Amino acid sequence: MNLPAELQAAIQEALAASGTSHRALAAAAARLSRRYRGPDPGGGAGWQPAALGAYLATRLPATWAATWTALSAAAAARPGWRPRTLLDIGGGPGTAMWAAALVWPGLEQVRVVERDARMVAVGRRLGQQAAHPAVREAAWIVSDAGEALPGDPADLVVAAYVVGELGEAARARLVGRLWGLADLLVVVEPGTPEGAQAVLAARQAVLAAGGHTLAPCPHDAACPLSRPDWCHFAARVARTKLHRQLKGGQAPYEDEKFSYGAWAREPPQGAPSRILRHPRADPGRIQLTLCTPGGAADVVATRSGADFKAARKARWGGPWPPASR
Ligand SMILES: C[S@@+](CC[C@H](N)C(=O)[O-])C[C@H]1O[C@@H](n2cnc3c(N)ncnc32)[C@H](O)[C@@H]1O
Repeated sequence: MNLPAELQAAIQEALAASGTSHRALAAAAARLSRRYRGPDPGGGAGWQPAALGAYLATRLPATWAATWTALSAAAAARPGWRPRTLLDIGGGPGTAMWAAALVWPGLEQVRVVERDARMVAVGRRLGQQAAHPAVREAAWIVSDAGEALPGDPADLVVAAYVVGELGEAARARLVGRLWGLADLLVVVEPGTPEGAQAVLAARQAVLAAGGHTLAPCPHDAACPLSRPDWCHFAARVARTKLHRQLKGGQAPYEDEKFSYGAWAREPPQGAPSRILRHPRADPGRIQLTLCTPGGAADVVATRSGADFKAARKARWGGPWPPASR
């Protein structure tokens, strides 16, 4: 899935207007990349202009793709549900609202809580280029979500790439509060063991408070995966010329690894199993590793079997059986 053209254009315009040199952007992109691979929570020192520019050019496309994929899985698990209101926590430049407006075009009202005033200014600027009125007219709230949250609930609450930046106790408190505001809550984190652990901790808290898993798990039981394995997926992101220049390499795309959870007050009806890694294709047979309602399991589709055609189209992170066969 490609970044919406209007968001891409808005990013280019914001980068040009910032006047940040290419060299400064490249150095900031390298620092950001190290940060997202390691345990350093960062972010607390405030977003300096070069880091912000590097975020727009190299991280936003990836966090957007991961969030769009997570929201799409939630939408597939709850067909017919149409959120009108969105609360985006730690929204950065508004990444999640752009993704949500694409998944649920009926969105009417967006609030973004972001503690960094520079990030908010850039997010507002990007949003003004949106065709979708809820994105264009989003209310931006400069606030530390750990200290103050809006009192009004929202149909959809999203916390993307933010709860993992908090310590355990602060994370548990925040997730509890977010769940208290949400009809449907989505948490997205980097697809590292630590990111998956943060999602699992959020899952436990939400289930203990009466929530139900919509995705990725087809059940509310304990996660069947254990170290060294962890639940994560990949979203493919097209790289722009600037992205390639800043991060090096010529590949036209990159795969953003992410972990996520989507939980609702209503249980889903007939959740499908989830494909946990790249299908393994050998001549005449395709093996899928699944998370099923009964735990992790491998299934094999053979050329002569009814599922072979569907298995050839199966993708890591997708449902099994697929929605339409
Ligand atoms: C990694 S960025 C993710 C931004 C966006 N959600 C995305 O997926 O692209 C994390 C953002 O959360 C903000 N943030 C971190 N802790 C926060 C808190 N306690 N309250 C509000 N914002 C916070 C940071 O300033 C930063 O903009």
